[in-house]
Order: sequence, then structure tokens, then C-alpha cells
Amino acid sequence: MQKSKIQFAVFPVAGRGTRFLPATKASPKEMLPIVDKPLIQYATEEALSAGATKLVFITGSTKRAIADHFDIDHELEEELEKQGKDDLLKAVKDIVPSWASCIFIRQGSPLGLGHAVLCARPVVENQPFFVHLADDLIDAEISCLKQMAEVHAARDASVLGVELVPKEDTNKYGIVATENRDGKISRVTKIVEKPKPENAPSNLAVVGRYVLTGRIFEKLTTIGRGAGGEIQLTDGIAALMNDEPVYAYEFAGKRYDCGSKLGYLQATVEYGLKHESLGDSFSKYLKDFTSKMNQK
Ligand code: UTP
Repeated sequence: MQKSKIQFAVFPVAGRGTRFLPATKASPKEMLPIVDKPLIQYATEEALSAGATKLVFITGSTKRAIADHFDIDHELEEELEKQGKDDLLKAVKDIVPSWASCIFIRQGSPLGLGHAVLCARPVVENQPFFVHLADDLIDAEISCLKQMAEVHAARDASVLGVELVPKEDTNKYGIVATENRDGKISRVTKIVEKPKPENAPSNLAVVGRYVLTGRIFEKLTTIGRGAGGEIQLTDGIAALMNDEPVYAYEFAGKRYDCGSKLGYLQATVEYGLKHESLGDSFSKYLKDFTSKMNQK
């Protein structure tokens, strides 16, 4: 079986993040921190752990902070060095390892996720690539993209990260129907964008992790606008399935929907509790706080 290593990770970050307004009026939702790291850095670390070396950001207006975050800040580094703040200096220098490169592409108008992915075509060309949506934060022992890269290597095909969602939530996701289940992997037979619960083919939802073959780009150029007048990645994948197999993979890990305020707060609390230097004192604070709440 042919095994292709995945070099490119595409991060569509050009959406407006309306669910988080007004916080996202002038700054990107992908820069919201979970404890001390922005969501987009969790995203790049996951992609790097899966073997990606070329990080492609599809950006829009109000997203300059993302490019700044991944750029070298000589002034800050010199200052931290002078002050002997070695840990912080290391944290800043380690944001992007020297062997990885960042590529920024501007999506002129936010015409949808499919259109954002299509913007990566000039650099990715015909190769398989990861797509990572930073607001889906996944806590996993083996990173989700790494798990998916293994499935891709074994099947030499596109792979969608999926999880079961409550039936009433199907209208928030791309939903798949599948066949030929083999453990956590099954072949996708149908994919529908945000179906109402009564029309959903299952409650297996595509979350923000994809491995796609280069052929998706051809499909994205021809499908036209779909639901909400946007070029939908879901429609591109449906078209791809006419030519080649696409697999759904039920990843191991816990997902937090950090594009929603509740999911963001849950991730903040749980990552806070696990945090190396903060975990113990935060845990103590939470215990005291909840016991006081219970006394009321
Ligand atoms: P969402 O549907 O979550 O939209 O996009 P959003 O704008 O980020 O957030 P809300 O719903 O308004 O709060 C899914 C992903 O696709 C990207 C977004 O940045 C997000 O990562 N996207 C969406 C683009 O890059 N370009 C687009 O035109 C649309």
C-alpha cells in the first residue's frame, strides 16, 4: 500500500467568529487563550506532532495578530534574555520550530470554509494535506491529526475526524452516513451539511479535523455555492466521494467546541486543572469555590 507523508497543514482562520462578539470584533477568535496559549498555537502544535512541516494559514481582515504570533519578535526576545526570564524566552522561541515554515494566504471575502480551503491550492498543489479548525480543541494522548495521519497512511485516502453528537445538534455539523465499519474506521456513503435532526442520516458529525487528497481542489472549483450561499467543504467532499473513497474516523480524545462560549469555558477549566504550574492551586480554588456555592 502506498504511504504518503503529509507535509501541509491548512488552518482556515478567516471566519468572523460572530458567536464570540464583541470579543472577536477586532481580534481573531483563534487568538483566544486557553490558559496561556492561543487556540491557534494548540492547532499548530497538533499539526507539527502529526508530521506537518508547512503551516498554511488562510487569513482574513482582523487576523493580523495570528501572523504576528508566529513571527519572530527580536525586541521581546532580547528583553526576556536581559531579564534572565529563560522559561518565557523558551516558550516564545518554541512557538514555531526552525524546521517548520509558516505561509499566510489572504481569503479576500469570507465565501465559506470550502473557499478558504481552496485558497491553499497554489501552495499545496496536488498533495494530501491536513485541515485543522482551531476552535475545535481536542485533548488526546496521541494527537487527533497524528491518529488520522496513520489512518490515511493505511488507506491512502481522505479521512474525516468524526464523533457522535446528540441528535438535536445535527444542524450544527456536517453529518455522515457510513458503511463497512472496521473498528473506529468506516467508509462514508453520504455527507450532508447541517441537516435538521429529522433529516440527518445519522448523528455522526464531522468535527474540525480532515486529511484530504489533492483532488478536493478540483471539486471545490466546480461545486458552486451551497447552504448559506457559501462554498461548502462538505459539498466538495460529497463530490470527491464520487471519484474515490472517503473514510470517517472516530478519533480517541475529548473535543471542546471553543467557538461557543460554553465550550470555551469548559476547556479553560479543564486545561487549567491539568496545567503544570497552575493545576494544583486552580484545583484548590475550584474546590473552595464550589463548596461555598453549595453552602448557599
Ligand atoms: P464557522 O462556521 O465556525 O464560522 O467556520 P466562524 O466565522 O469562524 O464563527 P461563527 O460561527 O461566526 O461564530 C468554520 C471554520 O471555517 C473558517 C473559520 O475561520 C472557522 O475556522 N472559515 C469560515 C474561513 O476561513 N473562511 C470562511 O469564509 C468561512
